[in-house]
Amino acid sequence: MTSPPRSAPVEKIRLLAVAGARPNFMKIAPLMRALARRDDRFETILVHTGQHYDRAMSDSFFRDLGIPEPDVNLGVGSGSHGEQTAQVLMKIEKLLIEQSPHVVLVVGDVNSTLAATLAAIKLQIPVAHVEAGLRSGDREMPEELNRVLTDAVSEWLFTTEPEAEKNLLREGVAPEKVHFVGNVMIDTLMQHRERALELDTLERLGLEAGRYAVLTLHRPSNVDSPDQLRRLFEVLERLNESVPVVFPVHPRTAAAIEQHLGGQPPRLRLTEPLGYLDFLRLLTEAQMVLTDSGGIQEETTALGVPCLTLRENTERPVTVTEGTNTIVGTDPATIEAAIERVLGAPAASPRRPELWDGRAAERIVDVLERDLGSRS
Ligand code: UD1
Repeated sequence: MTSPPRSAPVEKIRLLAVAGARPNFMKIAPLMRALARRDDRFETILVHTGQHYDRAMSDSFFRDLGIPEPDVNLGVGSGSHGEQTAQVLMKIEKLLIEQSPHVVLVVGDVNSTLAATLAAIKLQIPVAHVEAGLRSGDREMPEELNRVLTDAVSEWLFTTEPEAEKNLLREGVAPEKVHFVGNVMIDTLMQHRERALELDTLERLGLEAGRYAVLTLHRPSNVDSPDQLRRLFEVLERLNESVPVVFPVHPRTAAAIEQHLGGQPPRLRLTEPLGYLDFLRLLTEAQMVLTDSGGIQEETTALGVPCLTLRENTERPVTVTEGTNTIVGTDPATIEAAIERVLGAPAASPRRPELWDGRAAERIVDVLERDLGSRS
């Protein structure tokens, strides 16, 4: 009996995935799952840069979202932008030389995203950027610089909304590099929504469904200026007199309250930063959300919860044109008028922008397998 012909072993695609800060973890989670499902084709190395390191800012997300333990933690920690970026760059370069991956996968727009990208391209390792093409047009935002620079040198640009592709083409990116795949943050939201609904978060915080607001604030433009911070808190304290305002406080904001407001906390329902599932539970039943975050604008759109964005611009315009988001800026009178409008309006019904369907990570892995899979 002759044995069947043995095909030559196919070399797996060695992919090094990078995550560093809280908003990265929700994006990397569905990608790690999709890659694990194709472990016959991909060998994945997960690197945590350590940009965020607290239990509440990092560990709890790995646990809640079922992200595997990172293969490597670079332990860079906090620092100025230059220091943080340089630390990641130096440490990840060594690792890239050691591991020689075929591709580096980065997500979002934090300092770790840009640093890993720079290290990879200098070593001629191609980069795939998830959540490419978002532009606020505001170069004072550190994230905007991270986005523009990462996109300029990435080989695969995976976008979440049509406007992102237009931005990239305008900047001269070749159209064949751009792939409209949907939103990996929404993959995560859809996967965990049922579990979040089982939690007793509202009871623990003494809240009634549909009768509270959620606030998050951490952008330097809002929290690093004492006057700005005080003005925002004044408006929100007035809202808190009629509708409880739950405010999970980001470490940067806690430091600003200590430094600029003499440690006198605002009269709101302050909590520690919450884990992913508790926060999702809170968002789901909120009457309104007030935020300067990027990702929360998208999550509220998917959930159909009104969102007032306390910034002058957004890099995620689909949340305004199709979703529940309103850009209200930071002027107290304008914020107050917007709050009144939401309090007087009936709740919106959830609407999902195109391809925000829970399958974005699968599409990304499909493209990478198609483009890199021929190596053998
Ligand atoms: C970073 C991202 C921002 C993202 C945000 C979400 C950049 C440029 N910014 O901003 O896009 O929206 O994460 O949180 O990458 N700290 C802790 N524990 C931690 C992490 C930080 O106490 O685990 C404190 C440190 O004092 C640190 C400060 O928070 O200096 C800010 O952290 P940093 O990573 O520099 O920026 P974020 O404001 O968190």
